Amino acid sequence: MNAPIISVRGLEARYGDSSILRDIDLDIRPHEVSVILGSSGCGKTTLLKNILRLEQPFAGSVKYWGEELTDMHEIRYQEVLKRFGVLFQGSALLNSLPVYDNIAIPLEQHTRLSQRVIDRLVREKLHLVRLDGAIYHLPSELSGGMKKRAALARAIVLDPEILFCDEPTSGLDPLTALALDELLLDLKSKLDMTIVVVTHELASIQRLADRIFFIDNGALIFSGTPAEAQKAGLDTIDHFFEAGRFD
Ligand SMILES: Nc1ncnc2c1ncn2[C@@H]1O[C@H](COP(=O)(O)OP(=O)(O)OP(=O)(O)O)[C@@H](O)[C@H]1O
Ligand SMILES: [Mg+2]
Repeated sequence: MNAPIISVRGLEARYGDSSILRDIDLDIRPHEVSVILGSSGCGKTTLLKNILRLEQPFAGSVKYWGEELTDMHEIRYQEVLKRFGVLFQGSALLNSLPVYDNIAIPLEQHTRLSQRVIDRLVREKLHLVRLDGAIYHLPSELSGGMKKRAALARAIVLDPEILFCDEPTSGLDPLTALALDELLLDLKSKLDMTIVVVTHELASIQRLADRIFFIDNGALIFSGTPAEAQKAGLDTIDHFFEAGRFD
């Protein structure tokens, strides 16, 4: 099997005194879509933040191509961060700026490209997410699905090696969700991206997942393919697949 891009071992995540995740071991394999599943509040966003070091893990190790991330020097860490695209839960666009600037900002901050090249890249990425028409709109003038696509364009503007998406389709109608999932599969095949998705949507899991990580009560209770998940004989997982949701 391919060496993992990201390898997590013994990760413990806390906020203050409360332990959210314990003993998490998982590997993110290149060119796969890994889906993180679990009930609301179980710690999926926390897991992403700890992997990305946006929150400092309380214990354990997170390696990027074998290089420890958790205590990496700040300068090296900033370099590595550029290889990661992140679509935050809730989009996190800058509301006072048009879509164009929201997407140009990472290029202006992290590259020395000319305005002309930046302009071309912004338009290219907006075209990829089919938002050409909304380039000068403010985020407040976009629908929920358009906001997610704008945030996706921003997340991929530096051509990341790994794209982390926190609930990219939640709150969208099934057809818009389908279009967004197809966009993610396009990025995987055309740009060879490795994708990590947090989602609750059964349809999205079926469309996207090469591998599933299932979190319950602060622990990783399953990792494997969707077919293996259905045969694992775990009540929480069976219930999720039967109900299509968590109660
Ligand atoms: N910044 C924070 N400070 C303190 N507690 C937090 C913080 N962020 C999250 N938590 C707590 O950590 C737990 C896990 O939250 P997290 O956002 O990771 O869940 P989630 O699985 O992403 O949920 P959802 O599916 O609703 O997005 C929750 O109990 C939450 O209240
Ligand atoms: Mg979350």
